[in-house]
Amino acid sequence: MVNTRTPLIAGNWKMNLDHLQSIAFVQKLAWSLKDAKHDYTAVEAAVFPPFTDIRSVQTLLDADKLELGLGAQDLSAADSGAYTGEVSGAFLSKLDVRYVLVGHSERRTMHAEDDSVVAAKVAAAHRHGLVPVICVGETADDLEKHGASAVPVAQLHAALAEVPSSAEIVVAYEPVWAIGSGQAATAEQAEQVCAALRSALVEIVGVDAAAATRILYGGSVKAANIASFMREPNVDGALVGGASLDIDEFASIVRFPHHVGT
Ligand code: PGA
Repeated sequence: MVNTRTPLIAGNWKMNLDHLQSIAFVQKLAWSLKDAKHDYTAVEAAVFPPFTDIRSVQTLLDADKLELGLGAQDLSAADSGAYTGEVSGAFLSKLDVRYVLVGHSERRTMHAEDDSVVAAKVAAAHRHGLVPVICVGETADDLEKHGASAVPVAQLHAALAEVPSSAEIVVAYEPVWAIGSGQAATAEQAEQVCAALRSALVEIVGVDAAAATRILYGGSVKAANIASFMREPNVDGALVGGASLDIDEFASIVRFPHHVGT
């Protein structure tokens, strides 16, 4: 399989930064990357702000012709109707949102999203022209009982149950024990599971689509460890939580090809 995948660095802000803060943040991030002459065709960068910030960030990206990508952190499985508090993928695509996280471990655990909910949300994203960033990963307990790959691979199979193999997706491998813990997986661990996920994709969507699909690693990614992950053949970027809230740190992660000796 020839690797033609453009790396993607995705910043998951979680429930941080209000809409005013988001404007200042995105402006500074874009300036910082511009100063560094960042080539977005070589490494794509995207921010995933809270829903209430999206319109402001969209307006800024559009007005200043910024090349940062825009993602949302969740969407409803339904398109419209009596779903108080939910946000439709239709609304997100109207705001030029390109990506949407689906099945983040915080939603799986705190909002009881099981594999069938995740599959329905992946289908909803596809219906509305959004690219789902499908998050999979094992807990520390799963790791002990089943090894690293079994749970993420099973979650990926389930997530893709309702979409055609032509659907564009991004996969994010995030071991739950590595999220927000400061304890990132090693590059070898990440590669092992990302390779298993790619093999699963070959079965599910075929060789060509599997070769074209980006698989990210997430879980305590920082400027100091990104280069080691990106050296692995099956790791095509990162989903970054905590470190995406620090402009210099996130810009440095985006600029990983310039890191030397890490
Ligand atoms: P972290 O979060 O980078 O803070 O570990 C990653 C994530 O939850 O996507």
